[in-house]
Amino acid sequence: MRGGAEPVREEAPAKLNVFLRVLGRREDGYHDLESLILPLALHDVVTALPADGLALRVEGPRAAEAPGGDENLCLVAARTLAEAAGIASPGADLVLDKRVPVAAGMGGGSSDAAATLRALDRLWRCDLEAEVLGEVGARVGSDVPALLVGEPVFVSGRGERVAPVHVLATTWVVKPFGFPVRTPDAFGWWDEEPATGPDAGVLIAAAETGNVELLGSALFNDLQAPVVSRHPEVGAAIDAFLEAGALGAVMTGSGPTVAALAAHPGQADRLARAVHGSFVTGGPPAPSRPGPVAG
Ligand code: C5P
Repeated sequence: MRGGAEPVREEAPAKLNVFLRVLGRREDGYHDLESLILPLALHDVVTALPADGLALRVEGPRAAEAPGGDENLCLVAARTLAEAAGIASPGADLVLDKRVPVAAGMGGGSSDAAATLRALDRLWRCDLEAEVLGEVGARVGSDVPALLVGEPVFVSGRGERVAPVHVLATTWVVKPFGFPVRTPDAFGWWDEEPATGPDAGVLIAAAETGNVELLGSALFNDLQAPVVSRHPEVGAAIDAFLEAGALGAVMTGSGPTVAALAAHPGQADRLARAVHGSFVTGGPPAPSRPGPVAG
């Protein structure tokens, strides 16, 4: 069912980059990369209600960490969509239920933006083709096109080239930290000592066939070493997961969050007990929401 005067609700899943390879810095300051992005069961929720102007209320357990004003990516996404769709006086009351750690490399803000685009595409009856909505998303942020899809994807370019990958469900233990890492900082640290890791062939084959031992050994992130050298606690968490028997552990995105792959849910519970402040989640989630309007 679409739009009209009904409130529209969209889940905004957190993500893990289980593989992230940085190919190089570009003329425009962005970096070309390759990444396998896995949406998680952990999610925020964006609700859009009809209204005269644009407004946002942030609630939920992590509301205090999220920016509430114009710089919140929900409002950036709403304004960008209105411009692309030629809506002169856009109206929506947006409510963001914030649960995903902020500035953690888990895609929270980008996923909120993607969910806002999906919700307002329906509320405003824009009916944009998936590809066009992806282009609007890329204007909001590099991770937004990937998170619009709601399924595992392999991304390239600066993140705007997106290809769905069929990945079997896996169980993860996630360790956020009490400090943020700004994405431009992580890429800037990489620039100081650029190093590009292996290609994604082995990891993708392992993810597609559900070979979790191989997947664990192939987890990889080129931004990890630059962040670990400035924040040694990230490296310590990776070591702690591995010592506790994780199949693999890696920093996600630009960090600092660390994700460890568990062989099965029982082992995940043991890993979460072994590493203070970590929690268990799975991915990809079973599809539960109406997808984006089909093109
Ligand atoms: O696209 P987004 O606004 O999320 O990117 C934030 C910053 O992260 C960029 O300004 C850039 O410094 C860095 N970045 C990058 N290469 C990418 C994605 C992000 O250098 N592929």
